[in-house]
Amino acid sequence: MVKKLNMQRRDFLTLAAAGVTAASLDTNFIRQAMATDSYALQAGETAINLGENGSNPTNCWLYNGACPGPMLRRRRGDMLNVTVTNDLPVPTTVHWHGIRNVNDMDGVPNLTQAPIEPGENFVYQVPLRESGTYWYHAHNMGWEQVARGLYGPLIIDADDDPAVDHDFTLMIDDWRLDQDGQIDAASFGSLHDWSHGGRLGNWLTVNGTSNPSLSAKPGSRVRLRLISAANARVFKIKIGGAAATLIAQDGAVCRPENIEVITLAPAQRADLIVDMDGDSIILQEVSTGTPFPAGRIIADPQLGDAKIEKTPIQLALPPRLPDLQNIRTIPVHMQGGAMGNLTEAVFEGNSLPLGTLAREYKKLWAFNGIAGSYSEILAEIPLGQLVALDIYNDTAWPHAMHLHGHHFWVMTDDPTADAPSGLRDTWLMPAGSRARLVFVADNPGLWLFHCHMLEHAAAGMGMVLAIG
Ligand code: C2O
Ligand code: CU
Ligand code: CU
Repeated sequence: MVKKLNMQRRDFLTLAAAGVTAASLDTNFIRQAMATDSYALQAGETAINLGENGSNPTNCWLYNGACPGPMLRRRRGDMLNVTVTNDLPVPTTVHWHGIRNVNDMDGVPNLTQAPIEPGENFVYQVPLRESGTYWYHAHNMGWEQVARGLYGPLIIDADDDPAVDHDFTLMIDDWRLDQDGQIDAASFGSLHDWSHGGRLGNWLTVNGTSNPSLSAKPGSRVRLRLISAANARVFKIKIGGAAATLIAQDGAVCRPENIEVITLAPAQRADLIVDMDGDSIILQEVSTGTPFPAGRIIADPQLGDAKIEKTPIQLALPPRLPDLQNIRTIPVHMQGGAMGNLTEAVFEGNSLPLGTLAREYKKLWAFNGIAGSYSEILAEIPLGQLVALDIYNDTAWPHAMHLHGHHFWVMTDDPTADAPSGLRDTWLMPAGSRARLVFVADNPGLWLFHCHMLEHAAAGMGMVLAIG
């Protein structure tokens, strides 16, 4: 069923840096948002070159024919107005990942809205309450639609942003391409992927191309906004050639921390301040143990002089964990998948053996003994309640747990881990780990809580919190 991938140069799992050439970056994408008050996103089929020399363009599903889709850029406090037109052959929706949205703008099909049918459109009006690095992506059969390229960056600026000379957004993705350089469609829905680590790609892109090269003023201060659009792979991005300071994760400020390697699970974001003290800054993807080129920033004297002083970075403090006295704890026992201990689970009211669930319904994972779906309620929570999702990852796989409509503090059982730093919206849980995700249920509506390894979400690892 799973197509055997032949090991070509595009296989970044097995091949090192040698021989991969840089493509130049579409600077329009980096530079600016559209200068209009409302945006139009058209989801459609487009063939583009994903940065592999000499190969045919890849038929993708994209917003406005670009990968990533256009940068949507507004200020904190603005309303984001976007008309989405569906020119795909299938229904779609758009989700504004990490935004504390109003519920009916959250883009979850058959939960917060009807899917946008082919030929139809939908107007999203999204309030932007926080600044930072966010993204948008398709949420109908996301495991296929995101893998085909339906995603883009959403950047929200504010007066208290640290001053920088350059502000670059880098969207990182791994694609699974076949021998012809086309999206490997035969393996969509592969039970093997769904029960293991999800759909892992074999071709790495940053902003839709391979190993892009950006230019910056010598001595400049650079803000890098890294966004993972991968279906399932957990990236590790190494920053070489300059000291990097992590200033925000999942859009929200954290305590500044010097880092050399940043782990990015699917849907996570990391904002870094990097000072261009040398000739270049080199980004490599190192999760496989073999460094793979991801991108670089080259000092270019023709751009003129850097203006920003390299003073210590001053940030607002992350909000403190509230007093936990009246907290309601919701246990979430995650089971299932390959090499797991789940033998049966309840699906649509019936208890079924895992084999039947897998064969007939493609359900492979469960929360608290129930195979999840967008119509399964995990808990009903009164508005304003302080909540802890008390999660035990009792599976053999890591999971990137994402809550819609809210941001949470993270308390882990790892004594070496720091006290909560900043608020998060997606948290990577290693196999066998536990975590308490603490949040105030202050946003009324039906909100998904799911694994952002998109195959896992489709296969049962997602349910709804009914708030208010
Ligand atoms: Cu970014 Cu429900 O997902
Ligand atoms: Cu989300
Ligand atoms: Cu998962």
